[in-house]
Amino acid sequence: MKRDILSIIDLSPDDAGQLIEQALVMKQGGMRCLLPRRSVALLFEKPSLRTRVSFEIAVTQLGGYCLYLSPQEVGLGQREPVPDVARVLSRYVDCIVARVYSHETLAVLAESASVAVINALSDLEHPCQALADFLTIRERKGTLKGVRMAYVGDGNNVARSLSLLAGMLGVDFAIASPRGYQLDEASVAKAQRLAATAGSTVMVTEDPVSAVAGADVVYTDTWTSMGQESEAAARREVFATFQVNDALMAHAGADVFFMHCMPAHHGEEVTTELLNGPTSAVFDQAENRLHIQKAILAKILIPAD
Ligand code: CP
Ligand code: NVA
Repeated sequence: MKRDILSIIDLSPDDAGQLIEQALVMKQGGMRCLLPRRSVALLFEKPSLRTRVSFEIAVTQLGGYCLYLSPQEVGLGQREPVPDVARVLSRYVDCIVARVYSHETLAVLAESASVAVINALSDLEHPCQALADFLTIRERKGTLKGVRMAYVGDGNNVARSLSLLAGMLGVDFAIASPRGYQLDEASVAKAQRLAATAGSTVMVTEDPVSAVAGADVVYTDTWTSMGQESEAAARREVFATFQVNDALMAHAGADVFFMHCMPAHHGEEVTTELLNGPTSAVFDQAENRLHIQKAILAKILIPAD
């Protein structure tokens, strides 16, 4: 049976933990050439640097073939209906990696495709990013249990996947967002239920300082996600006091490090000094997209014995 990953919770906590361990092995050079003759289509409605390049290189390093399909070429839902695209691609490739505006488009793709569909970012989630980020934390801290993560900024797709994965893996998660830009209550409740099972907590606040207090990791993302460009000026005002900078980081734990999925907006959600400074893990995060996606592809495309 095909295995879609549209939300991070399409994985069990055990699956997620194993993917992270597998990615660590792969990063050290283990397990090469796992996907000979497998092909993967990257179907993107939005721009990308990290996701596109890391998936292309991941498939190539695993011995498979990857092709990128731009929005202009495919016209998903415009040149032809989404189910038709899914059914046609299923006749050519073994996996569809899709970046879409609406999560509903992913659901339709997955329903209509006979091959696995992986979410490469939707308005709701960014599961591959969250897995790469927890791989980065696992590498730096040696463990995930007991780690305290603070997210400061928009309650967006990245925040949602991080909160859910934190709950799954027993990481304490505190999120500070301005009123009106917080994670939706249903996602918070889901993350809290997962956390209760794993023995951690998920806390929501409007105060960046209380989220960051004693944190091991401080994370932020853009204030204006792709598709929200018309709101950029209004958002810059609302989020002005949510910048992650040295003053805010001073409230965190002694060994804190800074994370951002990138692209970063220097001088908005983060200062250039912090982004480029010694506590920044952002380029490790970017690299780890490659390693975790190799583990994901291997899991999805190699049938279990
Ligand atoms: N972090 C991330 O997904 O980056 P891209 O938008 O460049 O793929
Ligand atoms: N929240 C951002 C993440 C980019 C990788 C966006 O959706 O644009």
